[in-house]
Parts: sequence; C-alpha cells; structure tokens
Amino acid sequence: MLNIKHLDAYYGESMVLRDVNMEVPSGKIVCLMGRNGVGKTTLLKCIMGLLQPRAGSIVFADIDATRSFPEERAKLGLGYVPQGRDIFPRLTVRENLLLGLEVRKDSKKTIPEDIFELFPVLKTMLNRKGGNLSGGEQQQLAIARALAGRPKLLLLDEPTEGIQPSIILEIAKVIRSIKTESDVSVLLVEQYLEFVLELGDYYYIMEKGTVVAQGLMAELSEQVIKEHLAI
Ligand SMILES: Nc1ncnc2c1ncn2[C@@H]1O[C@H](COP(=O)(O)OP(=O)(O)OP(=O)(O)O)[C@@H](O)[C@H]1O
Ligand SMILES: [Mg+2]
Repeated sequence: MLNIKHLDAYYGESMVLRDVNMEVPSGKIVCLMGRNGVGKTTLLKCIMGLLQPRAGSIVFADIDATRSFPEERAKLGLGYVPQGRDIFPRLTVRENLLLGLEVRKDSKKTIPEDIFELFPVLKTMLNRKGGNLSGGEQQQLAIARALAGRPKLLLLDEPTEGIQPSIILEIAKVIRSIKTESDVSVLLVEQYLEFVLELGDYYYIMEKGTVVAQGLMAELSEQVIKEHLAI
C-alpha cells in the first residue's frame, strides 16, 4: 500500500529524516513509535506532501507520489489526522465533516451513516461549533472527517495525546473496527504503549530521524522497549 525508500528530509539545513525505509501493507495497522522529537510527525508530513523530502521515494498504491501535491495524495486515498487535530473551530461539526467529503471520487455530498455508527457522539452535536467541543471530541471529529473521505490509508498522529481515558477507549474501538471491518490501512504514530500493543500489526521505532527497530508487534520485546522508548 505504502512504500517509503531511503527518505531524507531537512528543515532548512538541519537533517531531520535520514534514510527512512518503511512499508505499510494493505489492511494492516503499522505503529510508528519513538521519543519526542525523533521525526515521527516530519515523516507523516513527507508522506502527505506537506514537506518535500530531499532524497528518496514514496510510492502509494503503486503510484510514485514523491513529488505530488497534498491534494493529489488525498485524492489517491491518503487521509491525514495531524497531531493536535486541526479541525475548523468556527465551522460546525456538520461543516467540518462535509469538508472531509471533498476528496471523494464519487462527489458524494452527504455524510455517510457509518461515520455516525463509529462516532455516535458526533451525531448529537452536528450544529455545534468545532471549537466548542472537548479535546477528545475534536479528536474524534478529526478522525471522522478523514474517514468520510474514504481513505485507503489513514495517517494518525498521536490520537491519544492529551485525551481523557474514556475517549481513548472510544478511539481504540474505532481503530479496531477499521481493522476488522474494512481494508483501510493505518499508519499510527503513538507513544501510548498499551494502545499500540493492542492495535498494531507491525511496529517501527525511530531515533534521531532514522528507523532503529522494526518487526511484528507480537514480537516487540521488553528489551527493545527499554532501549528505545522508555524515558
Ligand atoms: N517547522 C520546523 N522547523 C524546524 N525544525 C522543526 C520543525 N518542525 C520540527 N522540527 C524539528 O525536527 C525534529 C523532529 O520533529 P518532529 O515534530 O517530526 O518530531 P516528533 O517525533 O513528531 O516529536 P513529538 O513526539 O514530540 O511529536 C525536532 O528536532 C524538531 O525540533
Ligand atoms: Mg509529532
């Protein structure tokens, strides 16, 4: 589904990603982990086309997307939920969700009902301004908006960050149902270990801009966790 090879990226003259290689297979959940500042968000920005890598390639659904614009990647089927969510605070929940439909090929203009099955709480607040939702509700709205565009691959950047436990459980439930009931792939950036251990099929761990460990989630060892993730 997604294939990243030898990716280098910079902010100005400082190198932030170095020779990153990664694969997200179709229908799988891949978790990208690593301490603060190692380059996880930067990698998602490169995948989405918000930052141009200096070297390397990004192939998505067999199409070389390394140089395409973010809108083109969205149309190809990349959905992105940025860190800190990024919903439109002055638009209503309904308007936020409708914006998510823009990338769809079928130019459908009504919010699909399954979105409300995944996030029943949103149905009760359709006319509320996004900015008046709690942090957890905004996170759910951001995920719902991305899913409304019917992505093939969903990029989620730390969806549990600063979110209360009850909503973390809701979000976990949604990711679980994406896994069991659809063929959507997920690249999940997350530092909350229990969450990734339960949901992930594969893991990648980054340090200083490069991948230092990877494998099957079921085989992630205490040793690796201690070495690369413990604070
Ligand atoms: N716009 C920017 N300009 C310059 N440097 C940046 C910019 N954004 C991030 N950086 C730097 O690039 C490095 C990687 O940042 P990035 O946000 O990708 O890390 P991260 O792994 O997502 O961290 P966190 O877990 O805290 O979200 C950090 O050293 C950060 O300070
Ligand atoms: Mg980040």
